[in-house]
Amino acid sequence: MRVAMIGTGYVGLVSGACFADFGHHVICVDKDASKIAALKRGEMPIYEPGLEDLVASNVRAGRLSFATDLQEPVKNAQAIFIAVGTPSRRGDGHADLTYVYDAAREIAAALSGYAVVITKSTVPVGTGDEVERIIREARPDAQVAVVSNPEFLREGAAIRDFKLPDRIVVGTEDERAKQVMNELYRPLYLNSSPILVTDRRSAELIKYAANAFLATKITFINEIADLCEKVGADVQHVARGMGLDNRIGSKFLHAGAGYGGSCFPKDTLALIKTGQDNAAPLRIVETVAAVNDARKRAMARKVTAALGTSLRGKTIAVLGLTFKPNTDDMRDAPSIPLITALQDMGASVRAYDPVGMEQAKQVLSNVTYSDDPYVCAEQADALVIVTEWEQFRALDLDRLKRSMKSPVIIDLRNIYLPGEMVQRGFIYESVGRPGSKPE
Ligand SMILES: NC(=O)c1ccc[n+]([C@@H]2O[C@H](COP(=O)([O-])OP(=O)(O)OC[C@H]3O[C@@H](n4cnc5c(N)ncnc54)[C@H](O)[C@@H]3O)[C@@H](O)[C@H]2O)c1
Repeated sequence: MRVAMIGTGYVGLVSGACFADFGHHVICVDKDASKIAALKRGEMPIYEPGLEDLVASNVRAGRLSFATDLQEPVKNAQAIFIAVGTPSRRGDGHADLTYVYDAAREIAAALSGYAVVITKSTVPVGTGDEVERIIREARPDAQVAVVSNPEFLREGAAIRDFKLPDRIVVGTEDERAKQVMNELYRPLYLNSSPILVTDRRSAELIKYAANAFLATKITFINEIADLCEKVGADVQHVARGMGLDNRIGSKFLHAGAGYGGSCFPKDTLALIKTGQDNAAPLRIVETVAAVNDARKRAMARKVTAALGTSLRGKTIAVLGLTFKPNTDDMRDAPSIPLITALQDMGASVRAYDPVGMEQAKQVLSNVTYSDDPYVCAEQADALVIVTEWEQFRALDLDRLKRSMKSPVIIDLRNIYLPGEMVQRGFIYESVGRPGSKPE
């Protein structure tokens, strides 16, 4: 099948490359000429494990190509995906649908013959109706069906998630469109990935409800972690005890610095707005967003507590900047409010991240970047682990201790064991577990 992917960001590029790998002919379109030029040279605009090889092999096979203009790709495609960004709108935090509606208008102008326009971007309920209205108004002659097909891939594991999804959600009541969607996802269908076909509005809402629920789970365990600290319990044990209950499940019960990233913060806000607009306020989600917002900056207080003194004039080493490992995405990363809070308290911040430093430079100021974790820790008064990159799980602790000014570690991902850290002579703070100081 001929596919046009409008928007070649995380979702567009990964989905486009995977559909090409399924055997479809895909053209990924993006307005960003430098991104397309880089892709044509074989350079990836994002860090995502396995993506470079997947793109290269499908380009070689002649199934994947890139373009800046959607005219020809749309004209020839039977399936046209909208995978453009839907960031938070400045001012009120609702989803900014400018890119989606602009793409719809451009697609409408280029349509020829029967085509299915599929919204993969995360969009508020009812957006599909508006996309359809825009297209039908511009092109009353167009034979088109507008489908919702939200994407659930996670950055850092995006290819695996796309090819082995828990489910595929298709929102349409058009029989012909259902056939096109089945054809597109046939290899997954054969792998018995569940395909949930529903109406378009339900499909749109499924994506937001799922993200808001996961954000709630994270925020819930974070508040339980705060309680654990007060009452002398261990949140990892509590989470394990909860997670072994099949009705609850163990995923997304890891206490930490608060959720961030390109989806949860903006999607919870957009869902809250949708609830308010429809006189069905989502009070749980409203609270989740507020609690999470306050948490990220509050993590700086853990550093003060561990040092037992003001941060003025202190040097703090930060390991991990991206919102999670295996991505270079800095969008809404918890490291940003944490670092600015440390700076506001008078600390100098040094940082190291395996792949995120270039992106971080665009959003953080007055941070000194280091080439490796040990250089970062040299003469630091305290070290804060913010992102659980694999390489931070096996740090040479003795080397760290020798090079730091004082052996203070604040582990916001709970990757080390408090008892062991004390034995090695560290003052060690983590999240929701007893803090520890050497005797
Ligand atoms: N990043 C994720 O992990 C993830 C996961 C699931 C769903 N989503 C959703 O998918 C959507 C895309 O997210 P993303 O992270 O890929 O965004 P992104 O910002 O990485 O990419 C969007 C791309 O669209 C391009 N674009 C905008 N308007 C265009 C137009 N008219 N024509 C051609 N290109 C255009 C931009 O230049 C940009 O490269 C969002 O709605 C997001 O919420 C993202």
